[in-house]
Amino acid sequence: MPSPDTFSIPPIADLLSRWIPAGAVVVDPFARNSKLGTITNDLNPDTSAQYHMKADDFLLMLSERGEFADVVLFDPPYSPRQITECYQSAGLKATMEDTQSAKLKKTLRSLIGEILKPGGIVLSFGWNSCTFGDDFSIEEILLVPHGGDHNDTICVASRKGSQLNLFAGGSQ
Ligand SMILES: C[S@@+](CC[C@H](N)C(=O)[O-])C[C@H]1O[C@@H](n2cnc3c(N)ncnc32)[C@H](O)[C@@H]1O
Repeated sequence: MPSPDTFSIPPIADLLSRWIPAGAVVVDPFARNSKLGTITNDLNPDTSAQYHMKADDFLLMLSERGEFADVVLFDPPYSPRQITECYQSAGLKATMEDTQSAKLKKTLRSLIGEILKPGGIVLSFGWNSCTFGDDFSIEEILLVPHGGDHNDTICVASRKGSQLNLFAGGSQ
């Protein structure tokens, strides 16, 4: 079944375990209560994330600090309606700009490109395959059907640049 805790869905948990290497720096801008990230953020202060910022501000902060990630998890709300609901749960009111998901995702993808090491991986989740642009190559797509009339979850592993060994010395 679908779950707000995307990463608890068994085939998705399996995908994550295959793509996150031990010791990796994992940035999760939409973490909810997930502990998979080593640097986590979620707008909602009632979650266990380390930071409670808008995802674009959080990624910009990491970029300005010169932080680099081996893996970025990208599991935002999947629709404008979900964005509005998330903001309400966080006690905030979503503006028109906040619900323009295509525009927001474009900004987020660019910031993720900045903080990801060459050869690093983005694991993205949603109702489309949400490609990250010419600098990225798709390495795996997993379609998770939830039965009935539920939307499938589309999970994509994309690599930044050409295929490099993540932990090859000094790969930034
Ligand atoms: C699909 S859930 C993430 C679920 C998580 N991956 C898991 O498996 O538990 C999306 C999360 O994004 C948060 N969120 C929504 N809009 C946000 C924003 N603009 N910036 C940061 N977090 C946001 C919500 O509070 C929600 O917890």
